[in-house]
Amino acid sequence: MKIKTLPLISGAILLLSFTLTSCLKDEVDVKKIHYTGEEFAVLQNYLNLPGERESYQVTLPDHMRDMGMAVPQINDARATLGRVLFYDKQLSRNNAVSCASCHHQELAFSDDKAKSEGFDGELTLRNSLALASVANFESSYGGGDSFFGQRSFFFWDERAHTIAEQSTLTIQDDIEMGMDLDVLAAKLVDVPYYPILFQKAFGDEVITKDRVLQAVQEFVNSFVSTNSRFDKGMSVHRNAFSDFNNFSPAENLGKTLFISNCSSCHSSDMSRVVEAIANNGLDMEYDDPGVASITYNEWDEGKFKVPFLRNIALTAPYMHDGRFATLRDVVEHYNSGVKNHPNLDFRLKNTSGLNQPKRLNLNEEEKDALVAFLGTLTDNQFIDDRRFADPFK
Ligand code: HEC
Ligand code: HEC
Repeated sequence: MKIKTLPLISGAILLLSFTLTSCLKDEVDVKKIHYTGEEFAVLQNYLNLPGERESYQVTLPDHMRDMGMAVPQINDARATLGRVLFYDKQLSRNNAVSCASCHHQELAFSDDKAKSEGFDGELTLRNSLALASVANFESSYGGGDSFFGQRSFFFWDERAHTIAEQSTLTIQDDIEMGMDLDVLAAKLVDVPYYPILFQKAFGDEVITKDRVLQAVQEFVNSFVSTNSRFDKGMSVHRNAFSDFNNFSPAENLGKTLFISNCSSCHSSDMSRVVEAIANNGLDMEYDDPGVASITYNEWDEGKFKVPFLRNIALTAPYMHDGRFATLRDVVEHYNSGVKNHPNLDFRLKNTSGLNQPKRLNLNEEEKDALVAFLGTLTDNQFIDDRRFADPFK
């Protein structure tokens, strides 16, 4: 019996290895014909793009797929174009800033300032948001209602529903980039590398504002951060509730504290936030009304987007106005500083029915443990990934 099946098996192996080599060969051919020699020479005058097509395909680890997250489908040529646009200062009116001026890869695509500087030196109204997991928003919500009945959109007040919409607002914003999108499309026609990159991305050289936005969206959607030490623990344990064997005792204690005090909004598995927007008790009176600046509803005053905490150790300062310099300050806010605003979220009130803000009464060791746990969410592979790096020479 064994002997009889042997030829079959070896036949199958032969067939498999044959298919594999022919697949490999196809791939090499596709890569080779990505740019003609002439096109590549033009690109090389300005850009450090690889001659071969870079893959932006996203593979989610099992534990993230277990959570029902959809995998964003990325078009490689469009993401490559989006990468160039993201780093190109010509997207601003006076060629002074690019998206990357306020979204630095080494800071998980956030900025280290409380408010960022726009094209004309004016400060943005809010703290730059990290972009390391925006596709998680997009793919898990798709603009509709989530499993938890909450939708989640873009910006601190969630005024944009897609990255294309967000980018339209950002590029045309009088403080941020100050550029009319139609003027931008006309400006890019004269830049030698764009006709080539648009041709690869869309099949012809025509540059339109919609294509610009689509390409930027494609690139930003490919920012999926899944390689933190937290993810390593999740991939072994499949849920966040047991102690992780790759964590220190302090990190495991921090994880437990996080699950009991923070995960009801920020989530325990870091796949998507549980609550889309909330008032977390920063002030009794808000200078910036947050979501209420869009809805004009007093119930929305002081409500802001519940941010993703992936790579949070890299994205100081914290909150919509960058008021806290360190994670320790953030933990102290939740420990002892939550204000009793009328819209304060019920999860941050104590359960004794007195309608007062909750005090966590953490000791020093526990505060350090929470900070240590937040540090396990850093994904160094993501911030070192050359596919997301500045392509300009
Ligand atoms: C001048 C600084 C600046 C520039 C330039 C800039 N951004 Fe931003 N970005 C910000 C700030 C500040 C916020 C938060 C603004 C708010 O919520 O009101 C933000 C928010 C975002 C968000 C929302 C993230 C979330 O989780 O909701 C995305 C996506 C984004 N920016 C992408 C881009 C892209 C793409 C570009 C280039 C087309 C760009 N940004 C250019 C400062 C900037
Ligand atoms: C009621 C929901 C809720 C709970 C519970 C909650 N948060 Fe938040 N968190 C928010 C909201 C909303 C913001 C943004 C507020 C703002 O900027 O105005 C925020 C912001 C943060 C930030 C800053 C993020 C950034 O990008 O600047 C950190 C860090 C953070 N929370 C950690 C925690 C920790 C740690 C706990 C538990 C001790 C916790 N949160 C509990 C809602 C919540």
